Amino acid sequence: MPTQFSQSPTALNSFAPRLLDWFAENGRHDLPWQQHQTDTPNPYIVWLSEVMLQQTQVTTVLPYFARFIESFPTVQDLAAAEWDTVAEHWAGLGYYARARNLHKGAKQLVEVIDETGDFPQTLAGWEAISGVGPSTAGAIMAMGLHHYGVICDGNVKRVLTRWAAIDGDITKSATTKDLWTLAERLTPTENSGLFAQAMMDMGATLCTRSKPACLLCPLKEDCLAHAQGRETDYPVKAKKQPKPSKFSDALLIESADGDILWLQRPDNGIWGGLWSLPLQFVEKVDGKTNNKATVKKTLANDDKLSNMPNDVRSNEKVYEAEFTTAEQIINEWLIKNELVAKSVSNTLLDDAPIKHSLTHFHWYLTPRKLTIDATQVTELNQKLAAAEIDFKWLTEQEAQDSLGLPRAMVKILE
Ligand code: ADE
Repeated sequence: MPTQFSQSPTALNSFAPRLLDWFAENGRHDLPWQQHQTDTPNPYIVWLSEVMLQQTQVTTVLPYFARFIESFPTVQDLAAAEWDTVAEHWAGLGYYARARNLHKGAKQLVEVIDETGDFPQTLAGWEAISGVGPSTAGAIMAMGLHHYGVICDGNVKRVLTRWAAIDGDITKSATTKDLWTLAERLTPTENSGLFAQAMMDMGATLCTRSKPACLLCPLKEDCLAHAQGRETDYPVKAKKQPKPSKFSDALLIESADGDILWLQRPDNGIWGGLWSLPLQFVEKVDGKTNNKATVKKTLANDDKLSNMPNDVRSNEKVYEAEFTTAEQIINEWLIKNELVAKSVSNTLLDDAPIKHSLTHFHWYLTPRKLTIDATQVTELNQKLAAAEIDFKWLTEQEAQDSLGLPRAMVKILE
């Protein structure tokens, strides 16, 4: 029967032993979340670190992981924490949906533990936890419980598409399925946790995206991409659409005694649950900024683009203005009080936007400052309180010290 794999049975069978030998000699054995050198692995630690490591590099995660473990040594501590405390610990790691899932996942895990006396023990049990996909669940099974588990994350996909010269688009489900089948075929029944860690290390340290160190690779003899001299042609990935750009003003609304207004963002949007300055989205039409009728006299100047870099000016996409309820209230209040045109167009701050890149778009944020008197503060407070908005007046320093701020906000303050 012809094999469904492009590699010979000999190559397939010797893959794991070669990789594990390499790992024993050259892998990373001192990462603080690793559980391969203990007989009593801690699934909490592996779950926490795997969620943090999704889309974020080891060096970035290390200090965050240390703070999390210090503040939340057990899953019960994390589940019992206030969201604001969790957000503050996460601030700067990006992709905040992961932090929300982590907090929710901790609560789900505590429920399972209260019911069964232990962490989930099956792949399906882990996949039922918020923020845990098939590869993270496999990693936790293998590394966090020392059960059998298979991983197939981005690093593994890069190694395998090269080794087996798999040239299907890895964003397509048919290719993903082939890669999982191959990963399962290669993963040894014993020591799947070591194998998972070895694959991650291979992807992160040797079989890197742009400059693979093939000379040091234990798989080079039968790596088909290496034989073709085409390592960096894999993995094949549909070309991404260029990211669109959005433009916003970030309002520094300051009281006479130097406090600034901060809003907690709704759970479901960008930076869900974190604190930010009130934003005013600016719509951009045919290379010019425009405001919707309702936001007409807000904060964008027609000549705003003269301050923008050329690549931004030539972008001709049209964007809807997006507001949270709080931002609408503030916007309407500013218009009604004719505060906007007067105070804000004479911005006290540098007008150059700060560029902040997120998963789905580039965001150009222009800080704009506006000082209001005590009566106006009271009036604005009443409006926000009436709509049950979470807001705080804090100095820049207090906000940095006590709120979970997204990185873009820190950039603005800096
Ligand atoms: N990336 C994802 N999980 C990892 C781990 N356990 N060690 C190193 N890099 C990783």
